[in-house]
Amino acid sequence: MPAVAVIGAQWGDEAKGKVVHHLCRTARMCVRFNGGANAGHTVEDGRGTARLHLVPSGALHPRCQGVVGHGVALDPWELERELGELEAQRRPAPDLLLSERAHLVLPFHRLREELSGAADRIGTTRRGIGPCYEDRVARRGLRLADLADEKMVLDHLIECAQRAGGGPDPKEVWGELLRFRERFADRIGDAQRAIATALDGGSDVVFEGAQGTLLDLDLGTYPCVTSSTTTVHGIGWGTGVRVNLARVVGVMKAYTTRVGEGPFPTEELGAVGDRLREGGGEYGATTGRPRRCGWLDLVALRHAHRVNGFTELALTKLDVLSGLHEIKVAVAYTIAGQGGAAFPARVEDLARAEPVYEVLPGWGEDIAGARDEEELPSAARGLVRFVEMELGVPVTLIGTGPGEQAMIERGSK
Ligand code: GDP
Ligand code: IMO
Ligand code: MG
Repeated sequence: MPAVAVIGAQWGDEAKGKVVHHLCRTARMCVRFNGGANAGHTVEDGRGTARLHLVPSGALHPRCQGVVGHGVALDPWELERELGELEAQRRPAPDLLLSERAHLVLPFHRLREELSGAADRIGTTRRGIGPCYEDRVARRGLRLADLADEKMVLDHLIECAQRAGGGPDPKEVWGELLRFRERFADRIGDAQRAIATALDGGSDVVFEGAQGTLLDLDLGTYPCVTSSTTTVHGIGWGTGVRVNLARVVGVMKAYTTRVGEGPFPTEELGAVGDRLREGGGEYGATTGRPRRCGWLDLVALRHAHRVNGFTELALTKLDVLSGLHEIKVAVAYTIAGQGGAAFPARVEDLARAEPVYEVLPGWGEDIAGARDEEELPSAARGLVRFVEMELGVPVTLIGTGPGEQAMIERGSK
């Protein structure tokens, strides 16, 4: 299985971290290609709970190198903080390679995000991600490689402060960036070449998507999206490597969540939503915000499958549905009286979408920690089969709890 992509199929937080970590047990390399510290990927293993934002989830395995591709908006302060947290958990320092072409997130980007009102309008993570990507496409960003030119960096920071209309002293930021450059000198390099070489040599490489398909800049619920390419297409965009993917794993929860603003047709605002939030611990791994919760949405998932061409699905958090009397699954939308509507391009239309539900039986048994399909009650197996039939994609992993062992493997390739 040389090249594997792991892609969020919903609005993020599908448990990509856990799935990536699992798939990287034997991998040589784990590559992040999009997003930045807006991501929060949780891995629960023998050493505790790691919340990763920039460090690729596979890099917690000693033999797996973590590569941060040029598509990642790299915040050096966040990276250092994260490495400090991992160290505090007594984990070995991850083997990292940071693309010299990656753009840096600066304190001025966070300030601009605040001032622009995007944080409130879109409900962003306030990590400076949007403004960093803005500078990148406006061709005025600062990349890791640029740290070689100290004078240029200082001039750039002074200009950034002017553009943001304030923020920290550019000279101080400059000093910190130069310190960062020294600390990471032997970890900054040509990531494109390293990934291509690993693939050419037949090594197993796992590409770890951040966010989810419905947050993709172009194919998500624009403008309530993030500023990067979150789909399988982001791999070429964010690494510069033409990858022949053996597997494209779509990660989906057994229900739906969303953080931030934007339409969510199957959202449950009452008791069911509360039940999913508490049962699933649905609070943001990055911001701690309560996640909006609702039923599974197969219209949105069909769109995600069309975009990504999933070869398999990881269906996570099935255990969270235990105890629900019945389980609803949206199989179609009606928009302005029109049945069978496709996933619309405009949020205004999605906001008017009325889900058509199929109601499946629930189950009372606690399935937390199940590792064998035989342990699942027939109603739980029925839900898995229903998803496979509706989407036409096999479910190869079923999540039954947050721990790394809490999953059922079903004939994965
Ligand atoms: P990511 O952003 O896609 O990596 O997902 P997050 O880490 O933000 O959110 C997933 C949350 O669900 C984390 O707290 C995980 O520990 C937890 N989790 C992962 N898989 C399962 C599962 O199968 N069952 C339950 N109950 N929790 C899970
Ligand atoms: P992971 O990788 C869930 C959401 C924010 C906001 C929108 C734009 O953990 O799945 P941004 O800060 O990116 O400009 O915010 O995108 N968002 C996420 N939601 N999981 C994430 O990452 C997210 N990253 C961004 O809540 O609605
Ligand atoms: Mg997350």
